Amino acid sequence: MQLKTLQKLELPAAADMHVHLRQGEMMDVVVPTLEQGGVDTAFVMPNLVPPLTTVDQVIEYQGKLRAIAPNVHFLMSLYLHPSVTPETIEKAAQAGVVGVKLYPQGATTNSEHGVANIEAFYDTFAAMEKHDLVLNLHGEVLEALAPEGTTLEEAFLPTLKQLHERFPNLRIVLEHCTTAAAVEAVKACGSNVGATITAHHLYLTEADACCDPFAFCKPIPKKPTDRDALLKAAVSGNPKFFFGSDSAPHPITSKTSSAQGKAPAGVFTQPYVTQLVLLGLEEGVERGIISEEDLTQEKLEGFLSKFGRRFYKLPETSGNSLLLERKGEKIAPSVKSESGSVEVGVSRAGAEVFSLTWVRKA
Ligand code: DOR
Ligand code: ZN
Repeated sequence: MQLKTLQKLELPAAADMHVHLRQGEMMDVVVPTLEQGGVDTAFVMPNLVPPLTTVDQVIEYQGKLRAIAPNVHFLMSLYLHPSVTPETIEKAAQAGVVGVKLYPQGATTNSEHGVANIEAFYDTFAAMEKHDLVLNLHGEVLEALAPEGTTLEEAFLPTLKQLHERFPNLRIVLEHCTTAAAVEAVKACGSNVGATITAHHLYLTEADACCDPFAFCKPIPKKPTDRDALLKAAVSGNPKFFFGSDSAPHPITSKTSSAQGKAPAGVFTQPYVTQLVLLGLEEGVERGIISEEDLTQEKLEGFLSKFGRRFYKLPETSGNSLLLERKGEKIAPSVKSESGSVEVGVSRAGAEVFSLTWVRKA
């Protein structure tokens, strides 16, 4: 399809398989933006303060999210920590928790309680394999551990391979993949290894992320050729690659008042996630990286909705759809709480995007 000139399209409700919804007032502001951006199914990250390391904490959090957005299906995760034992995994499976997020200690926001030595968790991974929980990887090594000239993500890829070889039946997601090498590494694994691709990594590169706090995130956007590999993967029709926005809100003041390069990591896309994916793809066509023929209805539906649901063993459709129409709408600069005490800047503020209307199943 010719997205650039297309006036109207209909898509199934998006499944966003990687979201940060925070807590407190920030949560109250962010959770409603899921549906604004066309999402009715979301896989929720556990990097709260304190991190969600017990099943009871996860279930309590899920209750709070459901109270704010009763129409959204929240898939929940535990934060991998020494207290997450094989017994915890059994309890998590019984409670309907679907994944466990591994943060290398010190790699990103709220990862201080993360994993220092992956091998110490092999019993937990074996239990996850047995109970069919998904392992969600923040696939980056610490800066000190990456060889010169290798990105933090590329240096992590051998660990992905080792984990897959050791636990062949464990479903693994390489979250927010950002490099051509990661795309290849995921393709080389069996069908139970997949990867999420964000909206912002379809349009940002290191040249944006270096200097604009609202484009800075972890993993950091890479070279144009890496971005282009992600665009191609997103429209490849390969079900291993599905949408996970990694939308990560931070107070606008923390972004604007930090010294250059010191802003907290995270790009906030949630209120327009579906539209931002479409914008990234449209720009990919304009640059000649992907073609209009790549943008079929089937491939868009697969990437934005069906493949993620399939990987998480959900029905492939929720029955809800989205009507997207060109009406000259522009991305608002920020979202805020009623009192104005919480404000978050939105990625690509001012860009013209499709307007979104829900078509809910009867
Ligand atoms: O940019 C990021 N922000 N990357 C992450 O891994 C965490 C996230 C956050 O929680 O802010
Ligand atoms: Zn994340």
